[in-house]
Amino acid sequence: MTTYFVMKILGIETSCDETGVAIYDSVSEDIISEQLYSQAAKHAEYGGVVPELASRDHLKKLIPLIRLTIKESGLELNDIDGIAYTSGPGLRGPLLIGASTAESIAMALKKPSVGIHHMEAHLLINLLENPAPSFPFLTLLISGGHCLLINAKSLGEYEIVGQTLDDAVGEAFDKVAKILELGYPGGPKIEAIAKQGDPNAFDFPRPMTAKKNCDFSFSGLKTAVFYEFKKIKTIDESIKADLAASFQAAVADTLVMKTKSAMEKTGLKELVIGGGVASNKYIRDKLIRGLERSKIFFPPVHRCTDNGAMIAYAGSFYLKDVNRDLTLNIKPRWPLSDLNDG
Ligand code: KG4
Ligand code: ZN
Repeated sequence: MTTYFVMKILGIETSCDETGVAIYDSVSEDIISEQLYSQAAKHAEYGGVVPELASRDHLKKLIPLIRLTIKESGLELNDIDGIAYTSGPGLRGPLLIGASTAESIAMALKKPSVGIHHMEAHLLINLLENPAPSFPFLTLLISGGHCLLINAKSLGEYEIVGQTLDDAVGEAFDKVAKILELGYPGGPKIEAIAKQGDPNAFDFPRPMTAKKNCDFSFSGLKTAVFYEFKKIKTIDESIKADLAASFQAAVADTLVMKTKSAMEKTGLKELVIGGGVASNKYIRDKLIRGLERSKIFFPPVHRCTDNGAMIAYAGSFYLKDVNRDLTLNIKPRWPLSDLNDG
């Protein structure tokens, strides 16, 4: 890839309920230090992310985490050459805390800073792997807020090939976990209990797969689980495991079918997968088996969910020069297809 003059980039992620900090060294092309603090346990009792609590926790944890990340890298704060932070999409309060902290450090150090698109960072982190995909490639981004199929033509040039019309995949996992009373965050809980279940126990729909387009819809599938759950008189762990496994299988089959259509439609040969749901081993395996003719790239499991490394790395493509206009550039709503619109 192109090399940039910025060498050691501090990355800050605060878009939702993870405080992530990392340092990317563009000379050694490596993440040299990273820290992650998850607020999930704090939000668990409310069954989902409470934005105000998230903001307060980021505020408390971010600076100590930055200190720790720098200390563990063996560097001094002054050795940082530039700062990247998530500017959207995400929760307004949490984004503001990341952005204002990053901009303040950049101003104090007189170093450049840049706001990064969270979903682009999920996509780009795959380029850090060896072997790495090369543009153009198809990307399947599956997270708590998004379910997108993207033709990644070149850096910053992304065409949406398909997307969810209602719930994102991770959101469906979280809602089904709530129905099954498994707790928050739902994805890992469903994956864990599904290991003991039968994926064929319930015949849940594979939504929109009869349609030729590459769009998704997961809301009906979630409702199907809800009605099945309500019908059952005695709920025990083994029924929950069967429901979870059957739901997970329906999601995986749908993702495989839609991604296959998108590969055919675009004629692309390489497939990049990212976002929190990509850490699900069952879904990873299904995608690998179902798309055996494509070259598939996944980030390591700990870099599928939100993290600072993907922001620091994305910064290496976009950090350019000291640009101090003192604007806090956050965009809680920011479609990836509008990346270059102002
Ligand atoms: O990318 P991410 O950390 O945050 C967003 O950008 O949204 O994704 C979080 C989502 C949550 O909905 C969570 O339940 C889901 O990813 N998730 C999983 C797994 N781990 C996290 N879904 C299924 N299986 C998992 N193992
Ligand atoms: Zn994310």
